[in-house]
Amino acid sequence: MNPFHILLGSLLCICAVQLEEAAVREWNGKGTTPNLQSIVLGRCYDYTETVNPSVGKKNCSEIWEAFEKAFVGKDPCLVLPEHYELFINLTLHDIPASKSVFWENNKQLVHRYSDKTSRYMPLGDTLAGWMVDNLDWCGSLSTPGLEYSSCPTTAECENNPQEAFWRIASVTYAKHSSGEIQIMLNGSTLGGAFPVPSFLADFEIPNFQRDRVSNISIMVMDEIGGPDIDSCGKNSIAVLETILASRNFPFKCFDNYRPVRLLQCVDSPNHPECSLGNSIGPAHLWISTVLPLLAVVLNPIVH
Ligand SMILES: *[C@@H]1O[C@H](CO)[C@@H](O)[C@H](O)[C@H]1NC(C)=O
Ligand SMILES: *[C@@H]1O[C@H](CO)[C@@H](O)[C@H](O)[C@H]1NC(C)=O
Ligand SMILES: *[C@@H]1O[C@H](CO)[C@@H](O)[C@H](O)[C@H]1NC(C)=O
Ligand SMILES: *[C@@H]1O[C@H](CO)[C@@H](O)[C@H](O)[C@H]1NC(C)=O
Repeated sequence: MNPFHILLGSLLCICAVQLEEAAVREWNGKGTTPNLQSIVLGRCYDYTETVNPSVGKKNCSEIWEAFEKAFVGKDPCLVLPEHYELFINLTLHDIPASKSVFWENNKQLVHRYSDKTSRYMPLGDTLAGWMVDNLDWCGSLSTPGLEYSSCPTTAECENNPQEAFWRIASVTYAKHSSGEIQIMLNGSTLGGAFPVPSFLADFEIPNFQRDRVSNISIMVMDEIGGPDIDSCGKNSIAVLETILASRNFPFKCFDNYRPVRLLQCVDSPNHPECSLGNSIGPAHLWISTVLPLLAVVLNPIVH
């Protein structure tokens, strides 16, 4: 090998590295999750066989095919909600009355509360949501038709595969919800517990069916030890209450709703906000156990 060849070789090498770097990050979002197909298929079998067999038999390979048809091999900025329509049809199942939970900025808490459909069924606990929750995906015009390096965020292009998916999934979920609806919001979120625009404000609430939904309970959960930025009747929650009232939905709002507060306290049992006598503290226990005891003790004295 003469020096010329070595020079040529290193130039080619530099070019190749630069090309690779240029291809690495086209968009700001994470690229497609590795092994997407195996994860989605596995989750479909897991959901229908063990998590929630009450949905009945579903053809998971057919469901995967409907899913990939929406975006694989396509420009990741040209995907619309309706491209997932067959997927939505194939994954559809009943959402039991009074099991729906809607939320913003509260994902982990909502899922601990719902406990994989055993207590409630937020969108992430339906078959459609379960299969793709926490995953990233987008297509590419070149083989293999999936883009693993980066995917567009909604700020970069609205018609991206994930935004389109969650829009049609949210609309469908809202339309099928019935009975008492719960909305869990995060009272410690800077900028307000009820964000607008948001999936809740734009795709879910407008699709609540007045004839199927009996009433709505709003839960405003502050972080343990976190700021109390929003509360029932105030700021963005007042906006939400006005929207629900204008659509004639009966609703109630609960600050730091006790059953959910207890879940939060599992992780901070020693925090003052989790101790007796606090809002979670069993004030009613005083009335139901201590007062009758006092009565028993005082009874002979009084007589
Ligand atoms: C499931 O769907 C696949 C792909 O569409 C099809 O080839 C297969 O026959 C279907 N299986 C059943 C049991 O219907
Ligand atoms: C999905 O189901 C709806 C209602 O049954 C039907 O009108 C529509 O054609 C179906 N879409 C696809 C793509 O299968
Ligand atoms: C609630 O919002 C705060 C502030 O943004 C955040 O730190 C916290 O993780 C959120 N809580 C949940 C359960 O997501
Ligand atoms: C909603 O209605 C149900 C049934 O009538 C009732 O048990 C529940 O307490 C109501 N919830 C709210 C938040 O009003």
